Amino acid sequence: MTDLGAVKKRLAELRAELALHAHRYYVLDDPLIADAEYDALLQELLALEQRYPELVTPDSPSQRVGGVPLAQFAAVEHAVPMLSLDNAFGSDELRDFEGRIQRFLKTEGSLSYVTEPKLDGLAVELVYEHGVFRLGSTRGDGQFGEDITRNLKTIAAIPLRLLQKDGSPLPARIEVRGEVFIGLADFARLNLERGEAGESLFANPRNAAAGSLRQLDSKITAGRPLDFYAYGVSDPAALPCAGQGELLAYLGELGFKINPLVRLCDDIEAVIEQFARLLFLRGELAYDIDGMVVKVDDFLLQKRLGNKANSPRWAIAAKFPAFQATTRLVGIEFGVGRTGAITPVALLEPVRIGGVLVGRATLHNEDEIRRKDLMIGDTVLVQRAGDVIPEVVKSVAEKRCGREQPIIMPLECPQCGHQLVRPAGEAVTRCLNPHCPAQRVRALIYFAGKSGLDIDGLGKKAVEQLVREGLIRDIPDIYRLRAEQLAPLDGWGDKSAEKAIAAIGAAKKTTFARLIAALGIRHVGEVTAQLLEQRFKSLAELYGAKEEDFLEVEGVGGQVAASLFDYFQDPAVRLMLGELEELGLRIEQGEAGAQLLPLAGTVFLFTGTLSGLSRNEAKARVKELGGQVASGLNKKVTHLVAGEKAGSKLKKGLELGLNILTEEDFLRIIAANNQ
Ligand code: IVH
Repeated sequence: MTDLGAVKKRLAELRAELALHAHRYYVLDDPLIADAEYDALLQELLALEQRYPELVTPDSPSQRVGGVPLAQFAAVEHAVPMLSLDNAFGSDELRDFEGRIQRFLKTEGSLSYVTEPKLDGLAVELVYEHGVFRLGSTRGDGQFGEDITRNLKTIAAIPLRLLQKDGSPLPARIEVRGEVFIGLADFARLNLERGEAGESLFANPRNAAAGSLRQLDSKITAGRPLDFYAYGVSDPAALPCAGQGELLAYLGELGFKINPLVRLCDDIEAVIEQFARLLFLRGELAYDIDGMVVKVDDFLLQKRLGNKANSPRWAIAAKFPAFQATTRLVGIEFGVGRTGAITPVALLEPVRIGGVLVGRATLHNEDEIRRKDLMIGDTVLVQRAGDVIPEVVKSVAEKRCGREQPIIMPLECPQCGHQLVRPAGEAVTRCLNPHCPAQRVRALIYFAGKSGLDIDGLGKKAVEQLVREGLIRDIPDIYRLRAEQLAPLDGWGDKSAEKAIAAIGAAKKTTFARLIAALGIRHVGEVTAQLLEQRFKSLAELYGAKEEDFLEVEGVGGQVAASLFDYFQDPAVRLMLGELEELGLRIEQGEAGAQLLPLAGTVFLFTGTLSGLSRNEAKARVKELGGQVASGLNKKVTHLVAGEKAGSKLKKGLELGLNILTEEDFLRIIAANNQ
């Protein structure tokens, strides 16, 4: 090929073809040709460009990698400042956002919005002139960013040349904005490789993306799995689009990757529903999102609304509740549990996590304190895990100033002064004094409480009061109580006294499993109690049982067996149980069988359409496994199964913090329990 004109023509063909296939592969995830065919075209292009370097153009695929490392990044001024977004937490604040807009526009009519997942990456701006990518920059301080064009060119999802649909003209200049990010699977792989190579690990995908874009050597960036979603332009005025929805479709036609979870919502309630859906989907996405961006769709309205100093009035970031926060560990309190376990509790400078103010968090035991490297005065990372219990994750040792104090476990029980012991091989420090008041009160609370005999009117407060008043010291004392003793007490009266006495009377009739569970024997909870009920029929049998006999019960291990044996050999225990029988406690045969079913104690509610089985079948499965099915959302519901098109119930369920299951999750539970 010596004719320069023919070479130019072939190069143009190759570039167009390579751009098309790169778009199909990286943006649409729908390739038209095999990888090897693509490579052959690329090799042909590279060979030609090597022979004719003067014919290399900035939009050539060969320009994705290469060049000598830069000494530093040049500054770039954004023609239109890159603003940030205000935050909204929860549905009320989204409605407030709409209220502010309506007041500003002096209208009461409802508005349409576009919602977009808020990716947790880095905002960049890409300038295209006559369809060719010329300049790419970081957001920087919003006005000035850094020129990272060469690094951005390495990202396959960023087109080097815009696609032209049906010969429609390309804008002379367009400044596209979007988010550079790294997906979770790519992030895991990257860190794995770094670990194997002895390099430091990235803390999260966002840091990995930022670190990769900040490379002066674009060859390093080229080796990082960066991805890109476009979400806007600096100024839509000159474009053939009336609103954000149309703009995203247009950007898609130009060859950009648009997040498939973008939605057009007709009013703010639809926005709120979409937010709930995203929150639900969050854990299943291939990338991190930290909220949802809500934008007024109509560009004319956006223009009227304008900007505040740093953020537009027409958009807001609806943030997901943060499950983690940092705060200060200001002190430690030591509690005494029902079984004498000394539990250190972290006293925190109150901090809001996921909408709840957290001021205390259990530290479990001494080993945990050491493992998390905690000192009083430390800055600590606190989280509310999947359930709601706050926990201290770790200390931020870098923030220490030298005045932090070590945490020292007490030598004596904070309640009774008895010497504490930490049995060999155990993590727990214990008060072994059986008369320790803290243990006695807790044992009484437990006995009368929900996990015990569930005596109405004898909740935690009432038990504490009765102990304070000297009316009860030990479990049998509960059955000796008389209405005349209760009625004159603070907060009581004839009626509540009578009711409590009646409830105590009713609790004289109980099942074997319930009584055993209520006694609060160490390592013995409701499940073990039910297992024991299947094997032992009377207290006398328990008194006569050896450790081996307990071990024979399926599900009872060495530690539990030893604990049971010690407990029932204790003369004080036998005396106490004898007293209970004398006071009229009667044990009836329980239904341990039914209660042992895997879904016992659960209440399921179904919403939306199920595809794998009918709703009646699903309900039948739950019942077979010992669960209950609710017909509406009420306080008893423990699991909400959300099928397709789940609407308001799902939203409510999310707000109530229920266990939300997809149909798949549900089928998995059923399958697991049918084996
Ligand atoms: S729009 C004027 N849309 O959120 C509107 N931002 O504080 C400004 N972000 O730094 C941004 N996803 O990196 C917009 N779909 C999205 C977004 C998004 C993530 C980030 C962006 C920016 C921050 C705004």
